[in-house]
Amino acid sequence: MKHFLDLNKTDSHDLRSILKHASRLKSKRRGLSKGACDEEQPLRGNIVALIFEKPSTRTRVSFDLGIRQMGGQTMVFSGTELQLGHGETIADTTRVLSRYVDMIMLRTFDESILLEMTDFASVPVINGLTDRSHPCQVMADILTYEEYRGPIAGKKVVWLGDGSNVCTSLLHAAAQFEFDFVFSGPAHFNPDDKAIEFARSKGTSVLIERDVKQAVTGADLVITDTWVSMHYSQSSMERRHNLLRPYQVNEDLMNFANPDALFMHCLPAHRGEEVTSEVMDGPQSVVWDEAENRLHVQKAIMRWCMEN
Ligand code: CP
Ligand code: NVA
Repeated sequence: MKHFLDLNKTDSHDLRSILKHASRLKSKRRGLSKGACDEEQPLRGNIVALIFEKPSTRTRVSFDLGIRQMGGQTMVFSGTELQLGHGETIADTTRVLSRYVDMIMLRTFDESILLEMTDFASVPVINGLTDRSHPCQVMADILTYEEYRGPIAGKKVVWLGDGSNVCTSLLHAAAQFEFDFVFSGPAHFNPDDKAIEFARSKGTSVLIERDVKQAVTGADLVITDTWVSMHYSQSSMERRHNLLRPYQVNEDLMNFANPDALFMHCLPAHRGEEVTSEVMDGPQSVVWDEAENRLHVQKAIMRWCMEN
């Protein structure tokens, strides 16, 4: 049985084959309406539980839609609907869910909940975002970059601002897809040490550059994320904004990147904070493709999980 938990836990050949499959699935859907079924129905007869401990637009809709397109059915749980939020253990919840559904996708506040669920699940478990990582998002980002510019290997990818959960998955991806990674943000918000260690152990170039213009110079891809992720308290907002303001992605800064550099953001974006509307809506932005590609990539991930 295969779980999809993190990009450093899945073999790089498998990650590459998931992306190839996602491209194929995407091209086969050209001209179809969103609700039309795919030609192949690998999830026919299967039901997937989608569990959200925190809000979601893209993950919620793209998983649900993708499962339906592949012939499967969904059950969506949000907030504290399950007994899980009211004292039943993760282990017991997982044992029970494994008797009812064929696959589980979990978005949780705490990575340890995902890992414990994985220990007790007898069906595949997919990480739909934790406080520490967001692998489905970054798979969509790699697919999007390569659709526009070809292989990402050897390219300079610059992350600006908070070394967030998405940043951790991007560091894992740097090692698996062999691109150079540069982080620019305040020292307090450095990326996860273990993710840096993992990337460097695979020979990946990981640079921490506090000078934001220097960091972006020659970039092929510029990426950022919200300054206040969902697992941070709103009371930390003002301090975080003050520290992160110098790392805003705006037109002046994008001028330091390569002329054909792309801009990405996992969304939701806070326009005027981590990114300006000029950049979000500008010619280098591919944020809507990124969001669409969540659908295609996650379908390929689910297919991979269901294969023995
Ligand atoms: N990027 C992303 O995961 O968006 P949602 O929080 O809307 O799912
Ligand atoms: N870093 C953000 C990503 C949202 C998709 C968060 O965790 O809130």
